Amino acid sequence: MATDGARLLVSPEFDGVTEEWFDPEAWGASAVPVDAGGRGGAWFLRSGASELVLRHYRRGGFAGKFVERTYLYSGARRTRSFAEFHLTRELHQAGLPVPRVVAAIIWPRGWLWYHAAIIVERIPAAVNFPDSPSVGDESLWFRVGQMVRRFHDWGLDHVDLNCDNILVAGDDIYLIDFDRCRRRSQSSSDRWRGHNLQRLKRSVDKRIGPKGGIRTESLWQHLLSGYHGSGGCGIRN
Ligand SMILES: Nc1ncnc2c1ncn2[C@@H]1O[C@H](COP(=O)(O)OP(=O)(O)O)[C@@H](O)[C@H]1O
Ligand SMILES: [Mg+2]
Repeated sequence: MATDGARLLVSPEFDGVTEEWFDPEAWGASAVPVDAGGRGGAWFLRSGASELVLRHYRRGGFAGKFVERTYLYSGARRTRSFAEFHLTRELHQAGLPVPRVVAAIIWPRGWLWYHAAIIVERIPAAVNFPDSPSVGDESLWFRVGQMVRRFHDWGLDHVDLNCDNILVAGDDIYLIDFDRCRRRSQSSSDRWRGHNLQRLKRSVDKRIGPKGGIRTESLWQHLLSGYHGSGGCGIRN
């Protein structure tokens, strides 16, 4: 990999994005850190009339160390940001409820390493699933199950399917955060679907379970009904 200069990918609809867009400091007061649910390293941006989300790729648990945000380079298409860029565009083009991706960047660090970041559109008025005022409603859980099923039927293996990667905006439900996710082929074993659901269940227990008055065990059954109700695959969890 060339070690000088950043490499940028920009969606054609968002012509005009430059490297500076990925620097939260360059946005001044128009960049506000996202606090709910993330690892840090994410900011809400206001760019004229549009609202965006900037995310710098970081590993959890290594705060302050070199390895925290440095990844081994093995081709541009395989970098965290370019892979997420392409996958998010594919999901959007398939009509699935995801934010539009604006741009992705990689910064070479020496010959072998890189840092990376991505910008996506902010979903207006979205809250994380645990913070939705409807989090106690069976119908919301049913629809979350249907939503996850649509992604699974497309083949999306969401390796970090947790409550904070599910956004609720009024009646609409979105899935976000496709870092390290992949599209599975029809012929692959279906075990990944169950793993995704188990991960989501653990996150539900951790993030929503402790909230007073929310019966997560019974609500989870509504989520599974939504997931299984749309026909086709016979996975029970
Ligand atoms: N497109 C978006 N619209 C609204 N909020 C978002 C969007 N993308 C991310 N967020 C918020 O930022 C948080 C962290 O973003 P996410 O992409 O999940 O990164 P990570 O989990 O790696 O920190 C989300 O849980 C959500 O609160
Ligand atoms: Mg996330």
